[in-house]
Amino acid sequence: MDTTQKKDGVKNSITLTAPGFIKRKKTHQKISMVTCYDAAFAKIITKTDIDCVLVGDSCAMVVYGEKTTIPATINMMRDHTKAVRNGLPNKFLVADMPFLSFRKGIPSAVEAAGELMQAGADAVKIEGLTGHEDTITHLIHSGIPVMGHLGLTPQFYHSLGGYKVQGREIQAAQDIKSQALKLEELGCFSLVLECIPEYLGGEIARSLTIPVIGIGAGREVDGQVLVLHDLLGLSDTKTTFVRQYISGADLVANALNSYCSDISDGSFPSESEVFSV
Ligand code: KIV
Repeated sequence: MDTTQKKDGVKNSITLTAPGFIKRKKTHQKISMVTCYDAAFAKIITKTDIDCVLVGDSCAMVVYGEKTTIPATINMMRDHTKAVRNGLPNKFLVADMPFLSFRKGIPSAVEAAGELMQAGADAVKIEGLTGHEDTITHLIHSGIPVMGHLGLTPQFYHSLGGYKVQGREIQAAQDIKSQALKLEELGCFSLVLECIPEYLGGEIARSLTIPVIGIGAGREVDGQVLVLHDLLGLSDTKTTFVRQYISGADLVANALNSYCSDISDGSFPSESEVFSV
């Protein structure tokens, strides 16, 4: 990646653009993506090599403690997109269109996607395909880049009967592949594939010219995305496809216990941590 180091430590990366995603695939450079929901983490991510950030509707689960992504609303997504953009001036930012926000007709979807773009998103992500093909086309023709999302689509939790690997049967695999081809044909600039067998992720990635970003979709795709709190060990999620890079929850708990103990033994605050007259 072409980067220059600025004085404040923020890498002035050549920011990805929607067409840049396709170029990255052509040049076989894998894409790294992570979720983010607030300005504090965004400020950290902005200094890293991460290519692209997603304000996922997983926000409802990670930040608000909900059991699924279904309670996410457009106001929630808009506010968190704004917060992330405030801390992340230099990275391509995708915001999730939440549950049903793209299923109430084109004007309503344009309104919702417009709010996310005006809050600072560079693109929106939409789960599924059947029944909202025209909406996807309309958004793209309105200047809003769309990232698709197939396989395990968490907004379909109730119809899928829970969070399960998708595309294990031949027919289901063929359906996912034909929907992926259709999303490319409609003009999506990239596609997230979630929780599908590795061979299927590879087959779809090889069949498309747009990059496939996998989460539990194996090693043969064009990039990977993980939920930030999962990879930092700040959540309870223990799934096959999550690699936990640090034990964040333990680090935070240990820091808080040290703070408590410093208060009890009187070592906090110290002389250097108080104001003189
Ligand atoms: O909402 C989310 O975090 C997502 C990722 C898991 C891809 O959609």
